[in-house]
Amino acid sequence: MFKIFKKNNDRQARLDTLDLHHIPEHIAIIMDGNGRWAKQRKMPRIKGHYQGMETIKTITRAASDLNVKYLTLYAFSTENWSRPQEEINYIMGLPVNFLNTFLPELIEKNVRVETIGFIDELPTKTIQAIEEAKLKTADNTGLTLIFAINYGGRAEIMHGIQNVIKNYKHASDSDIEQLTEKDFSKYLMTGAFPDPDLLIRTSGEQRISNFLIWQLSYSEFIFNEKMWPDFNDEDLKACIKTYQSRQRRFGGL
Ligand code: FPP
Repeated sequence: MFKIFKKNNDRQARLDTLDLHHIPEHIAIIMDGNGRWAKQRKMPRIKGHYQGMETIKTITRAASDLNVKYLTLYAFSTENWSRPQEEINYIMGLPVNFLNTFLPELIEKNVRVETIGFIDELPTKTIQAIEEAKLKTADNTGLTLIFAINYGGRAEIMHGIQNVIKNYKHASDSDIEQLTEKDFSKYLMTGAFPDPDLLIRTSGEQRISNFLIWQLSYSEFIFNEKMWPDFNDEDLKACIKTYQSRQRRFGGL
């Protein structure tokens, strides 16, 4: 009894100390550790991915309640195709399962679903589920939940460069020289979104694995030890608390 009381009190204390006027506008997350979480429990890796999908629901709810504006989740990289076919098939079914079970709540919470990545290369059933979710949430004005699926930072930049070249085929040298970083950002898959303020990676690994390599230039990085299926709303709040204690200088003083 006392323990429960204490836990609730701790939770309240942590929320009380979060500065609700200084919530990161855009949080990006590398959801790592599903496989290890399952292995630690002597379960097949796909159980970890299933539980990881459940964590996505928890973190989406928490981000939405905290008025985070953008949440980008690294769900499948352009390099993940090298995994066993069975695991790939399972992961490709998860967006379908996720949206079947969660789309009504996303709509109710005014969440808009978006994606970055080479979506047209995904299995048809996955594309259909995603497109339906995008369509049904297109006018929502709360949290924008962005899934990075079949996404790779280098491939994204290459794709952007190819489009610049196509658009500037007949341009003068001076037009080309006037192309700015801001202009180029619009050629990226994230063109309509602000850069992340905060990057979180779970499972203790400390690298960015080809995720948003252009956009993370000035983001704060937090590496959390928990495996993604164990990450919860309190952990998200603790990360935001740490973010709030950092001073962002963007190269200035
Ligand atoms: C990383 O853990 C996780 C992935 C590569 C897949 C993540 C996918 C989901 C959580 C589901 C996606 C669902 C939707 C709704 C889009 P890992 O397998 O690399 O873990 P390990 O490093 O411990 O092996």
